[in-house]
Amino acid sequence: MSNKYYITTPIYYVNDVPHIGHAYTTLSCDIIARFKRIDGYEVFFLTGTDEHGQKVELAAKKKGVKPCEFVNKVSENFKNLLKCMNFSNDLFIRTTEEKHIKSCQKIWNKLLKNGNIYLDKYSGWYAVRDEAFYSQSELVDGKAPTGATVEWVEEPSYFFNLSKWQQKLLDFYENNKDFICPKTKRNEVINFVKSGLKDLSISRTSFSWGVKVPNDENHIMYVWLDALTNYISACDYADHENNDFFQKFWPADLHIVGKDIIRFHAVYWPAFLMAADLPLPKKVFAHGWWTNEGNKISKSLGNVIDPFQLVDKYGVDQIRYFLLREVPFGNDGDFSNTQLINRINSDLANSYGNLFQRVASMIFKNCHKKIPLKPTKFNEEDLKLINLIKNNLNDYRSLIDSQKFDQYLKNIWIVISNANKYVDDEAPWTLKKNNFKRMEVVLFTLIETIRQISILLLPFLPDSSEKILDYMNISRDKRKLNSVEFIFDGNVKISSPNPLFPKI
Ligand code: MSP
Repeated sequence: MSNKYYITTPIYYVNDVPHIGHAYTTLSCDIIARFKRIDGYEVFFLTGTDEHGQKVELAAKKKGVKPCEFVNKVSENFKNLLKCMNFSNDLFIRTTEEKHIKSCQKIWNKLLKNGNIYLDKYSGWYAVRDEAFYSQSELVDGKAPTGATVEWVEEPSYFFNLSKWQQKLLDFYENNKDFICPKTKRNEVINFVKSGLKDLSISRTSFSWGVKVPNDENHIMYVWLDALTNYISACDYADHENNDFFQKFWPADLHIVGKDIIRFHAVYWPAFLMAADLPLPKKVFAHGWWTNEGNKISKSLGNVIDPFQLVDKYGVDQIRYFLLREVPFGNDGDFSNTQLINRINSDLANSYGNLFQRVASMIFKNCHKKIPLKPTKFNEEDLKLINLIKNNLNDYRSLIDSQKFDQYLKNIWIVISNANKYVDDEAPWTLKKNNFKRMEVVLFTLIETIRQISILLLPFLPDSSEKILDYMNISRDKRKLNSVEFIFDGNVKISSPNPLFPKI
């Protein structure tokens, strides 16, 4: 088994302020990156900002500043989102960085050398909002199929011979059934490719904010060729013959993207890579979109959900939990404040928080402020609870590998509910009076179960899980998935516990 794992988010257009959709994409990657780290992988988790193109140039113009000033300022908003959401990315790439620009020019030269680029003239529609070209037949009521406004463009342009790669792409999808997930998206992409690929315009001459085409300064590279290249420039593709990093981490294990940009990642990107003789990523997963109380989220409707405000109001783990528990990853979801508050109160405060609070308080009060030493004997009921997670670690691994975050959480909440039931059935408060030794075994069984749950929840609720593991004085090197395979030793002094998730 290879023990490296490379995962990426899309890079975000800086013309927008970060909203819940952006936070969601990066959050899903953060969960996987954190999970893989505690499962012993060397992880490279990349995110960043997409800073070139007409859309960003226009946004800068509107503000009356130079594009470079504009992007330096607004890319900071996305960096702040990382801190706010507790994201653990290893690198933040900006497409205005020198090493990225060099990578773009290198891949361009390679495509040119391999005979995949030719100069011609583009005439057709362009939607600045999507940064995408559309043919007449694709328009719906004079707009792009996405609803974006289009403008007529006629200019000299370099083309990538995408049509030549049609069959090779179809063969690749056929031989790599998991390359595009979920399945519905895979079918959509295959149908799109089967319907016939046209060569793709990959340079523009009517504005200047972008990477210059090598040896033809009148052209700048199409922003999507520029943007997609970020995934390899982050691995030092610019100097890839001489560095181990590229050899080690490329190809990426997983690109997570929103459903709106699957075509760029599952058609254009693999075609560019094949044409440049580079290995293809292993998987592209397209997630769904959030609406706000039933409505499409948009700046013009004024209903953008601000992740900074949400975290401030409800807490970071609470938001992380809600976003991935509420909607199966891959489906669209509706954001509702009532649902958010329900989840926080029922799942976090009443179930999980309450379990920890009552078990820790009972230990603190009744066991001389100390978690008892690991018992020498457990009965069948104790072992049933203790083994619930321990015996199913591979299920959790495969749920992460198939991006079924909601199912992963549901499984853990079954353990939590079993643990709460076990407290009631075993009634340690009665045992305290008539069988102190048995009370200690029961409380140990519970805190051991909480330890396992906290390790498995580290990727989702990093703050709260760390708090519990700190409380139990579990050392850093024992906060790994395989630490769940052993029962811990106990015999740890504790303080009086504080509630983890206040009820709203
Ligand atoms: N810059 C391109 C990506 C280039 S990657 C080589 C881009 N940027 S974006 O900022 O417009 O969008 C980034 C991500 O945010 C996309 O995956 C998109 O699907 C996601 N979301 C934007 N709004 C969203 C929702 N309302 N809900 C969920 N995700 C959404 O596209």
